[in-house]
Amino acid sequence: MNENQTLPPLLEVQDLSVSFKTVAERSDAVRNVSFDVHSGETVAIVGESGSGKSVTALSIMQLLPYPSAFHPSGSIRYNGQELVYASQQVLQEYRGDRIGMIFQEPQTSLNPLHTISRQISETLIVHKGMSKSDAIGRSLELLEMVRIRNARERLHDYPHQLSGGQRQRVMIAMALANEPGLLIADEPTTALDVTIQAEILKLLRDLQQEMGMSLLLISHDLNVVRKLANRICVMRQGEFVETGSRSEIFENPQHPYTKMLLEAEPSGRSGEPLPEAPVVVDSESVRVWFPVRRGVLRRTIGHIKAVNDVSVTVQEGETIGIVGESGSGKTTFALALLRLISSEGRIRFEGREIQGRQTKELRELRRKMQVVFQDPYSSLSPRMTVSEIIAEGFGCMRKT
Ligand SMILES: Nc1ncnc2c1ncn2[C@@H]1O[C@H](COP(=O)(O)OP(=O)(O)OP(=O)(O)O)[C@@H](O)[C@H]1O
Ligand SMILES: [Mg+2]
Repeated sequence: MNENQTLPPLLEVQDLSVSFKTVAERSDAVRNVSFDVHSGETVAIVGESGSGKSVTALSIMQLLPYPSAFHPSGSIRYNGQELVYASQQVLQEYRGDRIGMIFQEPQTSLNPLHTISRQISETLIVHKGMSKSDAIGRSLELLEMVRIRNARERLHDYPHQLSGGQRQRVMIAMALANEPGLLIADEPTTALDVTIQAEILKLLRDLQQEMGMSLLLISHDLNVVRKLANRICVMRQGEFVETGSRSEIFENPQHPYTKMLLEAEPSGRSGEPLPEAPVVVDSESVRVWFPVRRGVLRRTIGHIKAVNDVSVTVQEGETIGIVGESGSGKTTFALALLRLISSEGRIRFEGREIQGRQTKELRELRRKMQVVFQDPYSSLSPRMTVSEIIAEGFGCMRKT
């Protein structure tokens, strides 16, 4: 038991419910959940997609779309201060300052139009009243703290110039800028590959210890929270089905759903393509170099070699995995193969060279080459319903 557990909890959530009013009906997303987070403790909420984890996290920050979202019951106290329906003035003081949050979709919290230094320094200027130059100095320290390589050079980059893992580190830096007492991390590693996932989790654990803060970690994957959480709440369909210490949950799970989550290892194998299967994509020496420009004349002083002489061949029915550390060029290579960014080298799709073809000629091929993006928020329009988005994919959207 943590010695701080004798003190009152830092965060006390009691009997919290969240419902949404939609046009026709009311949906109850979270029902009567209670949990505490003590000072310096890591508590995890784990459960399947749609179980209400993010809605619970957003309730703490009171960031739900009120009034279409509302709380039929519940109280959320941080250091004794009630946050449910608190005034904007109170909330502003707690959000970002005492409670930091890493959101599930990095794209929603990084502004694509502002440099990294501006985004981090802005929160320091607003919350800490720092001068601009002090704030930029502190931003650099924060980037170094989240172990971004060549942090000084990265300060002036825009979010799209960073890899997914680097963006996640920037978000952590932003959330920690004001040294909050509680950090809420909503699926901090879901969009990342496994090697980076482990690094980010280790980073969170180290930072938590260095800064002595509490951590509320949200994940659909029990194995992700195994190394970090002191206590775990298992959530399903808007309710907590089981709460216990890490050893209780992992060594002696009670609820069948917890047992099922523990056994949920990814399964399934990719099939082998037939030896005579036709080649779908064939690429040779693909190269994407981004120029590095400096000075008033924006002279090119060098290149970032994002993809350098990469060749791959994919047969029909085959699944090829491209694995590598964050920033190694995986996404850039995929975008080049689809001609979504320009590259050098040879790329054939179903035997036809696609390099140098005009956009119009590519249109027909586009239907056959599809991509699932790393950041769903950058590809889903917030102004369209799910059915409109899918219908548009079929090309049968009717404008009304
Ligand atoms: N703004 C909203 N309006 C209406 N319903 C919503 C809204 N936000 C979330 N919901 C609903 O609340 C439920 C819980 O959603 P939530 O985002 O908390 O799931 P989650 O556990 O975080 O899932 P995931 O693992 O996929 O992130 C879902 O049924 C969702 O459709
Ligand atoms: Mg979520």
